[in-house]
Amino acid sequence: MSEKDFIANHPATIENGNFQWSAPSNIALVKYWGKKANQIPANPSISFTLNNCKTITKLAFAKKTETGNFSFDLLFEGKPKEDFKPKIQKFLERIEVYCPYLKQYHLTIDTENTFPHSSGIASSASGMAALSMNIMSLEKALNPEMSEEYFYQKASFLARLGSGSACRSVKGSVVVWGNHAEIEGSSDLFGVALPTKIHDNFSNYQDTILLVDKGEKQVSSTVGHDLMHNHPFAEQRFAQAHENLSAIKTVLETGNLEDFIKIVESEALTLHTMMMTSMPYFILMKPNTLEIINRIWKFRNETNIPICFTLDAGANVHVLYPENVRATVLQFIKDELLGYCQNGQYICDVIGTGSIQL
Ligand code: PMV
Repeated sequence: MSEKDFIANHPATIENGNFQWSAPSNIALVKYWGKKANQIPANPSISFTLNNCKTITKLAFAKKTETGNFSFDLLFEGKPKEDFKPKIQKFLERIEVYCPYLKQYHLTIDTENTFPHSSGIASSASGMAALSMNIMSLEKALNPEMSEEYFYQKASFLARLGSGSACRSVKGSVVVWGNHAEIEGSSDLFGVALPTKIHDNFSNYQDTILLVDKGEKQVSSTVGHDLMHNHPFAEQRFAQAHENLSAIKTVLETGNLEDFIKIVESEALTLHTMMMTSMPYFILMKPNTLEIINRIWKFRNETNIPICFTLDAGANVHVLYPENVRATVLQFIKDELLGYCQNGQYICDVIGTGSIQL
């Protein structure tokens, strides 16, 4: 598939209607950090799709007479939210060439998250994925012949143009984004479900998200990605991501949790190393992030329970572990880790299946 395969030219034959989709967040195991023009990733990445942290978006559309501009209202939890509008406007402009029919409609986008607002959990992945699913429902209504494969590929393609990692939130449960020699069908343009059987060790794999710092990030991921241009270690890092993706693919098939932990924790620390070694340099981890990491390592050494951490572009810690140790790990989290969370806040999530039409 190439970009031009995603250009639609269907007449806007429907007067009005509405759709509603939910889409989850995702957590990368091999990280995407660095991009080329048009949201093309500098290296391939792989993530677990989550289940509980999600965005629910309703899209209502009604034919209008003036078709020169985008026209939309944006509601967050039922109330107008002007400060979200520029991001949506920019997204619509980016996808205009692929979805020209959108300008024929007035859109009402009504969105809410299942996780607390400003919890430090980014809603851009789930939000852009949920909106893209709705747009594809509209496109499918205009072009009922569309195949299911194309529907999901284009939804992921559009989500990517909203926020790179959002393209991994359309499907579950393990999604690859970016060309990789050993993963058939992998693409820089959209995410694909890992086309191999995942070992039972990873069924219902748990992700407990510890909310260490809920404040605004000092450096946005857009700026962070950009700092990978002319970064002294960029080429090695991109090559390493390809190697780690090969290795984790095997691990996901064989269920080797020891190797899983090594790759996942190394990826998290490498991501933050890239931040600390860019120019200008920056640190998104907080002292409590490091306290939590050290306590996880101590607990793992003492108990042999295969628990590990990963980080995204922030201070929060994702604690990953198999379902069969859930009770023990949750007790450990409550006893030893919640003290390092802002207001003791955490979210229990689990690997999930992707977007759902409501
Ligand atoms: O999708 P963006 O542009 O917000 O970038 C997200 C990057 C990381 O979360 C740090 C890593 C990843 O692969 O999700």
